[in-house]
Amino acid sequence: MRGRTNPTRAIEEPSPGLKLRPGATAPARIPVEDFLLRPWRKGDEPALVRHADNIKIWRNLHDAFPHPYTREDAVTWIEQTTKLQPGLIYAIEVQGEAAGGIGITPMKFEHRRTAAIGYWLSELYWGRGITTKAMRAMTDHAFATFDLVRLEALVFEWNIPSTRVLEKVGYTQEARMKKRVTKDGRTVDCFLYALVREGCPPQGSALPSPSEPRAFACSPRRCCSPSAARGSRPATSPAGR
Ligand SMILES: CC(C)(COP(=O)(O)OP(=O)(O)OC[C@H]1O[C@@H](n2cnc3c(N)ncnc32)[C@H](O)[C@@H]1OP(=O)(O)O)[C@@H](O)C(=O)NCCC(=O)NCCS
Repeated sequence: MRGRTNPTRAIEEPSPGLKLRPGATAPARIPVEDFLLRPWRKGDEPALVRHADNIKIWRNLHDAFPHPYTREDAVTWIEQTTKLQPGLIYAIEVQGEAAGGIGITPMKFEHRRTAAIGYWLSELYWGRGITTKAMRAMTDHAFATFDLVRLEALVFEWNIPSTRVLEKVGYTQEARMKKRVTKDGRTVDCFLYALVREGCPPQGSALPSPSEPRAFACSPRRCCSPSAARGSRPATSPAGR
């Protein structure tokens, strides 16, 4: 059913288990061609409300994303994200204003090397390839910065644009989960997409740097670089990290 969901649950409890890779720090900004991933900050509230208050966005997201999207929701979201571990959640800044969001939610306990990845973009900018580029940049950053081996996304069966984004970035559809989701008055299937960082070092090990001999043997399909594994170039600009 449509209607307000619970904005106070906008972010799940942060996992205590997500570790940085040795020597890694989360970038404060990730420039991507003509837009930017950067933290949410005070002052973003009006833009957030303007772009997020859209039923077409709400119907594709977790119920924690409210509708209608009010100023109070925006204030709560920005307060919550600023308390989180750096590098988990970014605004997508297009033409100088926050026009979407992208982020990872680490899982807990024995799932701690997996994170869920989520994203949305203002309808004003759909169809320009922005989310695909943002997802490449976020995926590269997540694997380079955090001790993660798997990123996954659940996509409602009607959300073909999102399945296209994931496939273009190299995520694989692993399952069709029947009647998994009840949203907008319907109970529908959803797809589980995942990207696995194969050939990665064991938990806590340092990544080989490009100038050092590789500590782990990587075949072309099992490489330590997710971009290389996908056969694509890194999405961030040279100044990106
Ligand atoms: C899904 C979403 C993030 C896509 O953002 P975007 O910036 O428009 O995505 P891109 O432009 O990078 O790619 C969209 C792709 O979907 C395709 N597409 C768009 N509408 C489509 C449709 N009705 N049928 C088939 N493909 C469609 C585009 O053609 C493009 O694929 P292509 O490059 O192969 O042509 C955006 O629509 C959105 O915010 N939706 C609401 C929130 C949401 O769904 N979040 C994801 C939850 S899993």
